Amino acid sequence: MMNGSANGRVSTGSSLNTAGGGEKKEHLYKILVIGELGTGKTSIIKRYVHQFFSQHYRATIGVDFALKVLNWDADTLIRLQLWDIAGQERFGNMTRVYYKEAVGAFVVFDVTRASTFEAVTKWKNDLDSKVQLPDGSPVPCVLLANKCDQAKEGLVNNTSQMDDFCKEKGFIGWYETSAKENINIDEAARFLVTRILEKDRAMQLGDDDRDKDRVVLDKPAPGRPERKINCC
Ligand code: GTP
Ligand code: MG
Repeated sequence: MMNGSANGRVSTGSSLNTAGGGEKKEHLYKILVIGELGTGKTSIIKRYVHQFFSQHYRATIGVDFALKVLNWDADTLIRLQLWDIAGQERFGNMTRVYYKEAVGAFVVFDVTRASTFEAVTKWKNDLDSKVQLPDGSPVPCVLLANKCDQAKEGLVNNTSQMDDFCKEKGFIGWYETSAKENINIDEAARFLVTRILEKDRAMQLGDDDRDKDRVVLDKPAPGRPERKINCC
């Protein structure tokens, strides 16, 4: 069931006339938030978009939507269309429809429940098998180890093993987050959007065929996946 209205189309690179007469680039990016039941997907979105947190748990039914507008820089306005997909959808067959035209994703697990980490691979595989960028590459995806304000259980306690896990599974990076304490959510989003912008620019260059000799910089760097943890 769709709880909101969003057409899911991703238009990129349109130009707006600003008051000063200059042109401002506007991007609309569809971003998925997926992961097991009760891991905090809705809470992360509510914190990010509305600066709000509640202890009360109400399971998302189907999918919900939120819009975050970022004044990225003087020349760029970004609208993030966040698709909040119910954890129970992994057992349904609607995810292909929900994932359509996404250009970025967060997979969320709950650091207090190792079983939710074990399901991360299933979510990532589901994502990669059902959606790709127009150039055929995987959608940039960041892993969020949420509820880091609480005691952690399992692999998340071992930073280097988490790095290896992310590299192996194709995550561009991971963050410990807390929707409750507002930890690392803005940072994780900024990191994902930076990568999406790079991919977008690279693909537009490809489309225009402007410079065939240009080195494409959007490939994940070899070595350790990027990871930034500001606390916990
Ligand atoms: P589904 O919609 O069922 O898939 O769940 P969800 O992933 O959207 O989880 P939701 O955001 O509804 O959060 C589940 C419960 O975890 C709620 O009671 C939240 O208050 C709590 N919660 C979410 N994030 C955090 C956090 O960072 N720290 C703590 N302590 N609790 C959190
Ligand atoms: Mg939810």
